[in-house]
Amino acid sequence: MGELGFSSSSSFTTFRFADFVVVLCLVLNAVVICNGGKTSSFVRKVEKTIDMPLDSDVFQVPPGYNAPQQVHITQGDHVGEAVIVSWVTVDEPGSNTVLYWSENSNKKKKAEGKFNTYKFYNYTSGYIHHCTIRNLEFNTKYYYVVGIGHTERKFWFTTPPEVGIDVPYTFGLIGDLGQSFDSNRTLTHYEMNGQKGQAVLFVGDLSYADNYPNHDNVRWDTWARFVERSVAYQPWIWTAGNHEIDFAPEIGETKPFKPFLHRYHVPYKASESTSPLWYSIKRASAYIIILSSYSAYGKYTPQYQWLENELPKVNRSETPWLIVLMHSPWYNSYNYHYMEGETMRVMYEPWFVKYSVDVVFAGHVHAYERSERVSNIAYNVINGLCTPVKDQSAPVYITIGDGGNLEGLANNMTEPQPPYSAYREASFGHAMFDIKNRTHAYYSWHRNQDGYAVEADTVWFFNRYWRQMVDSTN
Ligand SMILES: [Fe+2]
Repeated sequence: MGELGFSSSSSFTTFRFADFVVVLCLVLNAVVICNGGKTSSFVRKVEKTIDMPLDSDVFQVPPGYNAPQQVHITQGDHVGEAVIVSWVTVDEPGSNTVLYWSENSNKKKKAEGKFNTYKFYNYTSGYIHHCTIRNLEFNTKYYYVVGIGHTERKFWFTTPPEVGIDVPYTFGLIGDLGQSFDSNRTLTHYEMNGQKGQAVLFVGDLSYADNYPNHDNVRWDTWARFVERSVAYQPWIWTAGNHEIDFAPEIGETKPFKPFLHRYHVPYKASESTSPLWYSIKRASAYIIILSSYSAYGKYTPQYQWLENELPKVNRSETPWLIVLMHSPWYNSYNYHYMEGETMRVMYEPWFVKYSVDVVFAGHVHAYERSERVSNIAYNVINGLCTPVKDQSAPVYITIGDGGNLEGLANNMTEPQPPYSAYREASFGHAMFDIKNRTHAYYSWHRNQDGYAVEADTVWFFNRYWRQMVDSTN
């Protein structure tokens, strides 16, 4: 009995020691696991984010009879040899013609567009013109004139270099911009950024007109006049956000995306998409896929089928950089819109890993966050493997919904910072993705409170196809 008792006590002691070791391991492991990235110590002063009043100078209507306003451009084909020019006239339809010429030539050419109008509750739009200019030379500055026959206005743009493997190109990144005083600061900071963005990848939520009574579409007009100073001169690549849905059955408006689709045309047919809400373009050395968080994306849906056919078409020997834009983020550690992107992640994340997507940019959460390279594709309901793991084949996920709209900042974060989150900060700002060659791209995020040249978060991205190694924050 004594021996047994001793033995029993000994195994009890052994058990307790083993138990202690296990617990210690768990604690240490938890310390490691819970050691997320950096939550910035910068705390932005809490201020109300309010929209600029209607009589603000940035919303000014250009002078002159039937003067074109709200001028904006975007890529007009799959490779960058075409540009869609859009503008609004209000007195009468006026001319659909765009007059254009390259800086090296005096020979003026004409392209013909079309116009549309729409009604939204008690609002009637102006005459919204869209004209695609085709067969442009790559890497060439063009001047263009709209408003032929009435008040002419002249702008210019530079076409991208021909698509190719080592072609440098600098993209700006803006999301959830709106039209507040902070929005104006974000746009100014983007314009003043010394890295000189050549095109903007816009991740959705443009005007926030739907926050006004009856979705006052006058705020779609003011927004387009506000951003004209940039988007008339360089293409913005459009992603639809939830504020583009404008679904308002209470006032009889039941056609989703009505104002957005009338105002913003994109070259979706060039990528064999059946909807302007998802499409792709090639630009310089980047292949950019734009997805819709607010259109069906489940199995067999048009968007699913399109993406399934689209990803194998990406030739990394032609366009090494594979970038995806969407509105609702998949990896987000703020207490806003938490896990709203989860169902789309479940559908598409295995493809993103399989096809080595370099980076996914999203908006929606009004703050900034950059993830580690992680994936969460092992889970199959019964195996319990539901924690994201480090994965060098996975994209970096960046939330850049910090444009500064009237809804204000998302400043409440989940704690502790989860391991998938590398850097997060509740400030307004914009980012730059500066592709140097097939292997390297320099990424930087800029908060509005800093001087124009200050970079608050930077990473050297290594291309997932050409150099799959750990990105460097040095
Ligand atoms: Fe949103």
